[in-house]
Amino acid sequence: MKLVRPESDPVCDKFAAARKELSSALIERDEEVDLALTALVAHEHVLLVGPPGCGKSLLLDSLLAWTGGTKFSILLTKFTTPEEVCGPVSLAALKEDRYVRVTAGKLPEADFAFVDECFKASSAILNTLLKILNERVYDAGDGVVRKVPLKLCVGASNEWPSPDTGKELSALFDRFTLRRAVAPIRSQAGRQKLLWTRDHTPRLATTITPAEVEAARRTALALPWSAGAKEALETILRELAKEGIQPGDRRQFKTVGVVQAFAYLCGADEVLPEHLEVAQHCLWEDPAEQPQKAAQVIAKVANPVGMRVTQLLLETEQVIAGCDVRNLADAAKAAAKLAEIDRQLAGLRGNGRLEKARAYLKDQLRKLKLASIEAV
Ligand SMILES: Nc1ncnc2c1ncn2[C@@H]1O[C@H](COP(=O)(O)OP(=O)(O)O)[C@@H](O)[C@H]1O
Ligand SMILES: [Mg+2]
Repeated sequence: MKLVRPESDPVCDKFAAARKELSSALIERDEEVDLALTALVAHEHVLLVGPPGCGKSLLLDSLLAWTGGTKFSILLTKFTTPEEVCGPVSLAALKEDRYVRVTAGKLPEADFAFVDECFKASSAILNTLLKILNERVYDAGDGVVRKVPLKLCVGASNEWPSPDTGKELSALFDRFTLRRAVAPIRSQAGRQKLLWTRDHTPRLATTITPAEVEAARRTALALPWSAGAKEALETILRELAKEGIQPGDRRQFKTVGVVQAFAYLCGADEVLPEHLEVAQHCLWEDPAEQPQKAAQVIAKVANPVGMRVTQLLLETEQVIAGCDVRNLADAAKAAAKLAEIDRQLAGLRGNGRLEKARAYLKDQLRKLKLASIEAV
């Protein structure tokens, strides 16, 4: 029996609204927004890696401003102490010869956490961090292992951990089920928006409680997989193995939940092959070349709409960058290419990013025509 989602799902509507609001304020961060919201629904940790100043903190802070519950944010340096992450040792307890930390306001009590420069963690805090992120438990020092409320940890870093990094750092890297490189703004229009908008902070009309996040997770986990999507995932894993990419069993298993979460975010009532788009951020181990290969394999096997949109937008930028509007023949050729890209976009269905892409393309086409008219 196919499980059909109720007609109205207020929590899912909130996710859809936040998705729109975040990606319209942040420039060229649609995929990162999708990734962060998917992580939230899937209860998996997410890592963004990119050069300083490319909007990682703005996105992750905005996400955590949207969620209610207790939050914890920290910028790690190699001098960060366990006190700063887990709280100071209780002096009252010490007087009774007990060693326990007071964890109020710190990571062990957080529903949602943002760890900036996460790979700067010293070994003094790595072990605790690993336990909290992976097993979601913490021992304050009294030998009692307690469950932590953590639902999502978002991490940011300027660079990937180096391949010869220690075992603990690699383990931390592996704890992030979703991982993505963030690139600087590419498009001309994006650059203008960056320069001439004084405040890029997203304004979110709603907030979401930990209980609602939990409800979203349950609904997402109950979404059935279509036969096509199941088969596509299995094919993707086989194709990746041929390319020498073999994500571990835990990673493969977790990917299933992540794809369901993305399907939920897209408002679908079953998982379709196109929702496998998000798996490109899960199904690899080595950041050097594997993410691109994983994306290619997924695009080939599952042909997700979102990946086609991204590809077509890249082509759009190339056409615009390579066009001299003063040369009429050149401008006409570029306009024809843009119109062809629009036809391809028009043939796609059902992705939140599609409408925005078409509006953008129409706008570029209009500008191109105006510029070439002015030039003559
Ligand atoms: N893609 C973007 N969209 C909107 N604003 C951006 C973007 N990239 C950079 N900015 C601007 O630059 C500022 C610095 O970005 P920030 O999030 O602190 O970068 P990071 O954490 O990646 O180092 C932001 O507050 C914002 O004003
Ligand atoms: Mg930052």
